[in-house]
Amino acid sequence: MQPRQPEWAWQWSEFDDPVEWLFADWIAPNHLADFAGKLVLDAGCGHGRHAALVARRAARVVAVDLNTAAVARRRAGAAANIEFLAGDVAGFDDGRRFDAIYSVGVVHHTDDPDVTVAHLRALLKPGGRLILWVYSREGNALNRLFLEPLKAAILSALPRPVLDIFSHALTAWLYPLIWSVYLLPMSALPYYEYFANWRRLPYWRNRLNVFDKLNAPVTHFITRERALSWMSGLVDVHLSPYLGASWRISGTAPR
Ligand SMILES: C[S@@+](CC[C@H](N)C(=O)[O-])C[C@H]1O[C@@H](n2cnc3c(N)ncnc32)[C@H](O)[C@@H]1O
Repeated sequence: MQPRQPEWAWQWSEFDDPVEWLFADWIAPNHLADFAGKLVLDAGCGHGRHAALVARRAARVVAVDLNTAAVARRRAGAAANIEFLAGDVAGFDDGRRFDAIYSVGVVHHTDDPDVTVAHLRALLKPGGRLILWVYSREGNALNRLFLEPLKAAILSALPRPVLDIFSHALTAWLYPLIWSVYLLPMSALPYYEYFANWRRLPYWRNRLNVFDKLNAPVTHFITRERALSWMSGLVDVHLSPYLGASWRISGTAPR
């Protein structure tokens, strides 16, 4: 049987993402320290670096991904308290319930984000915290209206090494804009905040970002209302926009 979404295994074999402060931004206002001593699920672990980071504090991290478990295990090193497992986060259930579940940049790539989140909620212990970072519908008109149709029509059929060259070209083309027009105080420009963040990151990381967007086989863009509905019935709910193009959402299962 053809593996599901094999594009990710290719991506995470070729690219690494060791920038720790980005992970801290994506899970805010939750902190790495909040994982201390806990049983944690990394839902969609990709390259495995976040699982390794969290495992320095957590009691144990269970890191699940469709098809990147092998590469993640290699990347993350030999920490004894991480398990990398192949599985679908919309259905994974080995009987354990978690003190904390984070899913960074994953739910919007699953077949049905509502089903995925409902399932993740069911894996929380009473008092367990769910932490999500997803693409927003708001602020992503260019991606939705131009990039996604271009992917469907052409890019998805290209061999990944060709897409990689294309991602280089597109990233290099964006740099002069980001260091000129986007330095002006014109916050109405599309992706204004998002590109400001590019100036904090090295070129290779921005290229990974571009490749990731071109490579993703399935992408949903989530409205604020839909993101909030996922937290219905949870307590200590937080929702905030991140860089004008994504949501940080978290909430705690009642005890
Ligand atoms: C953009 S990457 C994010 C990886 C990592 N969480 C990070 O923050 O860099 C998306 C990941 O979600 C995984 N993924 C997508 N759908 C999935 C599903 N239904 N179950 C498990 N993993 C899934 C992909 O294999 C890929 O590794």
